[in-house]
Amino acid sequence: MPVNVQLGLRGKPLFEGRGEITRTEQTQTGTKVGIRLRDCIDISQLVTKYQEILIRADIDSFASDNINLGVSADYRLMASDVLHLLRTFRANLDQFDQQKLTAEAEAEILATCEERILPTWREHWHHANALVEPIMEQPLELRATKRFTELVLTPEFMAGAIWNRSYVKPLGYPGDFKIMSMVYDWQREGKTLYEKLSHRLGLDVAECIATRMTDMRTAIAKAVLSAPAALAENRAVRIASLGCGPAREIVDYLAVNDLPRRTDFTLIDQDHEALSSAYERTYPAVVRLGGRASVSCLNASFVQLLRGELFEKLPPQDLIYTVGLIDYLVPKRVKSLVNTLYASLAVGGTLIVGNMHRCAGSNLWPMEFITDWNILYRDAHDMAAFAAGLPGAAYETFYDSTQRVVMVRIVKKS
Ligand SMILES: C[S@@+](CC[C@H](N)C(=O)[O-])C[C@H]1O[C@@H](n2cnc3c(N)ncnc32)[C@H](O)[C@@H]1O
Repeated sequence: MPVNVQLGLRGKPLFEGRGEITRTEQTQTGTKVGIRLRDCIDISQLVTKYQEILIRADIDSFASDNINLGVSADYRLMASDVLHLLRTFRANLDQFDQQKLTAEAEAEILATCEERILPTWREHWHHANALVEPIMEQPLELRATKRFTELVLTPEFMAGAIWNRSYVKPLGYPGDFKIMSMVYDWQREGKTLYEKLSHRLGLDVAECIATRMTDMRTAIAKAVLSAPAALAENRAVRIASLGCGPAREIVDYLAVNDLPRRTDFTLIDQDHEALSSAYERTYPAVVRLGGRASVSCLNASFVQLLRGELFEKLPPQDLIYTVGLIDYLVPKRVKSLVNTLYASLAVGGTLIVGNMHRCAGSNLWPMEFITDWNILYRDAHDMAAFAAGLPGAAYETFYDSTQRVVMVRIVKKS
């Protein structure tokens, strides 16, 4: 029986022609019909049309999407002010780049621009924090605002090395040891003046990583001088860093002329490259200090850590610290980790655990929205809860000098 055949895709016609029914078959769901086409199908034309329909459907999906939906007017205004600020500096610095400037002149221009841009940048950043705080628990608004930011603002920031690496995450995880090192090195990175300025804005956000690191260096110095168990047992002081990254606080600490006491450092990280880099940076000092210091590296996954396997193999430690790690973990996991680490302390030993702090000037907006670097922010109350109930423990919470990192210090009294 002759029939008209119409094929369609997503409501659009794909093929029309004549055919005939050659076979019918009754099934439980209805009648199956076999059709022989009488008109030839031009396959390449069919494929082209098929692709065209799909492409149009794709374009419809994003072009008809109201890009403003879920993004507040205040947020859009703030984004446009930030863009205007950055582009003003970019346009003018690009002109300086055309001139043959001496290194001194470049440094002078950058120093002046930094001085001018930083206060305004901080105002925008803190204002943006206030704008996004209420949407953090609202998935639709959060997704729309993040998408808007990544389309509108992120490309402008990508000129800065630290923004770029934070967004791209080339090692597959955020906050790798190379980003940490950028913060500690505090160099003017980039080819153009604008690239250097943009990098500097990123360093401003990351400043608390450096202050947190110096706090850990101070804690190391204190432990080496006065770890009670090491003094009582007349043995080396034992210090472990979990999620050590580049371990810059240890590299810096080992720059001392002489160590007050023999010290054994254990560095633990899931990234082999981070450990190699830390080992290479500490090795010259270990040699120079002639047996007064040792550095051992443990490459371990988080699962291994939580099982407590690693620390079971280590002798009791006088200082254990972990900063920049629990920010990625839900409370239940942190609690379990803190229990494991506390159990691995010698009596009199100290455990320090740090987390980014939820506050008006926190890193929330730049990290989460510009670089899609997701972490959990915590306050002193949250941190104290991780220490609560540990047997024989005394604990206190404290902040780094920027107030953007909150830490809990737990001492094993008995
Ligand atoms: C943000 S960095 C902080 C590094 C260092 N503590 C600092 O402040 O410079 C986090 C580090 O934790 C490490 N890390 C992440 N997940 C880990 C895991 N499951 N086990 C061990 N290390 C981990 C990462 O490889 C990275 O080096």
